[in-house]
Amino acid sequence: MRSAGSVLVLTGAGVSAESGIPTFRDALSGLWARYRPEDLATPEAFARQPDLVWRWYQWRRQIVDEAQPNPGHRALAALQRCLGGMMLVTQNVDGLHQRAGSTDVVELHGNLFDDCCSAAGCAQSAPTASLDQESPPPCPRCGAPLRPGVVWFGEPLPEAALERATQAAGSCDLVFSVGTSGLVYPAAELAWIAARSGAAVVEINPEPTPLTAAADFVFSQPGGVALPAILRALGPDPSDGADL
Ligand code: OAD
Repeated sequence: MRSAGSVLVLTGAGVSAESGIPTFRDALSGLWARYRPEDLATPEAFARQPDLVWRWYQWRRQIVDEAQPNPGHRALAALQRCLGGMMLVTQNVDGLHQRAGSTDVVELHGNLFDDCCSAAGCAQSAPTASLDQESPPPCPRCGAPLRPGVVWFGEPLPEAALERATQAAGSCDLVFSVGTSGLVYPAAELAWIAARSGAAVVEINPEPTPLTAAADFVFSQPGGVALPAILRALGPDPSDGADL
């Protein structure tokens, strides 16, 4: 890590698990073990039952609102401060990396707290609705219902974010894949692009994933354990690691 010119860190829901935010695919606690994505996370579901989808996202916003960044988020923010060329790319929509102090976070799947218009061709953004709002407010421009600014199944990823992440994957010396099952494309492709381009691959995940066999280093541990340990081993400014 000390000699790597550019480091890319890819994160998924597992990074926020220790903050009490459910992942998607963990067998018992994952959101997709309890809910069907086609009922809640597609444009068609929102068109059919806007209030139901809206309330599900309001529930998720509530969980995130009450959560705090954990030692894994804080270690990544500290690593970004001590490694000049580190890019943080996340599939998470919870904003906890930013709350932990990470800057310039590339959000591949949007953000839970950005509302935007659901009408094709409008895309007006709007201030986040209050957490007790039970149905989608109207778009201030065209009156169509607002929706959470996250990427739903069947929708393209934000072009600029995907472009930056893909470029970084093709040119980094070292890539970390942390807390992601690596099953959702195109995000999952990024670690493989980096590997094919010659980057060393580090995976942090208590469970194996499709990437595990291709990784050069595997930490079968929670992010909140492995990341602070890596930070301490790197020996940056002690004040950075002090309160992890
Ligand atoms: P998943 O729920 O698919 O995977 C979470 C991963 O985190 C699993 O591999 C777990 O083993 C691992 N994990 C659990 N606890 C952990 C911990 N404390 N530390 C490190 N790892 C841990 O979540 P994602 O891979 O992020 O998309 O899912 C990708 C996308 O699928 C999400 O962004 C979402 C979902 O459908 C959209 O909403 C568009």
